[in-house]
Amino acid sequence: MRVIICKDYDEMSRKTAEIFAERIKAKPDIVLGLATGSTPEGLYAELVRINKAGEISFKQVRTFNLDEYVGVAPDHDQSYRYFMNEKLFDHVDIDKANTHVPNGKADDLAAECAGYEEKMKAAGGVDLQILGIGSNGHVGFAEPGSPKDGRTSLVDLTESTIKDNSRLFDSVDEVPKQALSMGIGTILDAKEIVLVASKESKADAIAAAVEGASSTDCPASFLQEHGNMTFVIDEAAASKLKSADSYEKA
Ligand code: PGA
Repeated sequence: MRVIICKDYDEMSRKTAEIFAERIKAKPDIVLGLATGSTPEGLYAELVRINKAGEISFKQVRTFNLDEYVGVAPDHDQSYRYFMNEKLFDHVDIDKANTHVPNGKADDLAAECAGYEEKMKAAGGVDLQILGIGSNGHVGFAEPGSPKDGRTSLVDLTESTIKDNSRLFDSVDEVPKQALSMGIGTILDAKEIVLVASKESKADAIAAAVEGASSTDCPASFLQEHGNMTFVIDEAAASKLKSADSYEKA
């Protein structure tokens, strides 16, 4: 497990984009696992910049997103499909047919989840997964209590996640209560994982994820067991790590 502490959000985003650009250059048809949320926005902006500069191409890249709200159509401005189009896909040379986000409006949600796992498997599995972290330690929408071997499934969002996400909606009542999300088992199958975190509000979750005991109370703590795991975090998110001095500086 590697922990890289960056000065601030911009350095965190640049450092993460460097890792992504290297991997895309090494494997042009790489399978990326992607995440939504405020934290990876800087990474996506940097990847757009590097793509426009001609340093990397997404022509053959394939992507699978972690999660999607249930009952929210892909063209709804709060859907995660919409977010990905807006932040990344519409601005790079990717073939949208190669981009996958679970369909939260599917008639049969269980079949949608099973089919999503099948598609990932058929693509050869995720080579490089980007993750954010919830203030409650969730990754994707694998909320506290999620099993370590969980697969893509229909999940209930916790009160804390609904509250955190309400900033993006007109009112807390409008936040969907359920989502389709990769499970911890799905996420751990990725060959390489990078988790980004920024701001003091993530400091407790990062301390539990990096230095806490492996436990369903903090689903991100299971990532410690992955063989190719890197946390790229800013100083504020690192502020509650006991061994902060012993980690790499960007
Ligand atoms: P955020 O969300 O990047 O918007 O803080 C992260 C998450 O909940 O996984």
